[in-house]
Amino acid sequence: MDARSFPLMIAIDGPAASGKSTLARRLAEALGYLYFDTGVLYRAVTWAALQRGLSPRDEAAMTRLASELAIDVRPPSQADGRSNDVWVDGQDVTWAIRSPEVDAWVAAVAAHPGVRQALLEVQRRIGRQGRVVMVGRDIGTVVLPEADFKIYLDASLEERARRRYEELRARGQPVSFDEVLARMRARDRTDAGRSVAPLRPAPDAWVLVTDGLTPDQVFTRVWDVLQRRAAPHPSDGAEAS
Ligand code: DC
Repeated sequence: MDARSFPLMIAIDGPAASGKSTLARRLAEALGYLYFDTGVLYRAVTWAALQRGLSPRDEAAMTRLASELAIDVRPPSQADGRSNDVWVDGQDVTWAIRSPEVDAWVAAVAAHPGVRQALLEVQRRIGRQGRVVMVGRDIGTVVLPEADFKIYLDASLEERARRRYEELRARGQPVSFDEVLARMRARDRTDAGRSVAPLRPAPDAWVLVTDGLTPDQVFTRVWDVLQRRAAPHPSDGAEAS
């Protein structure tokens, strides 16, 4: 057991496909922390809206849905690349919430202040228990401003679109690169331009641009920073002076 104290609340924010989830999963595994990807909450609301024929642009309807919907995030039941199961209305929607349709609408749903408010307490309850790596767009700025380590991962639009394109193709989704690029550009604009909790780094976030870096390289850089930040534990006999 490492006799140093690592940050207990790690917040990772950044745009879509900047490498947040991959990094967060590895950090959570290395530290024995809970990994929580808050994007699944917004995606679950969007999926349910489309299923029910509700307009994602209707703020009142989306806010009601976000308040009432039972979204269940559980440990993974299958080894198919998922980090968690996501259940809504008694259905396993883990992959359904990653469809291009949900991708196209989720930023609009996440831009409604009422939806964000409805999902805020759920996220805080989980985050404030500590020993958590929480991923999203506003974790360091709004959800857990008290987080003791904030990371903001960024990458160029082209690099992120390429990563998302490869992910979708690997799952057998028939999409073109140009389509993925256009959708990502639109989503960036909505995420960064919304009035409530727009995407931006917290003033005390550690920013890393991941263009050209492999997931291993990203992890190693963050891990080095974490090691340096981990305070020496009084009982480990460190040469404190
Ligand atoms: O990380 P993701 O692609 O699964 O996120 C889906 C959408 O949800 C994205 O458009 C931004 C939004 N989101 C947000 O606004 N705040 C969060 N904490 C997490 C996600």
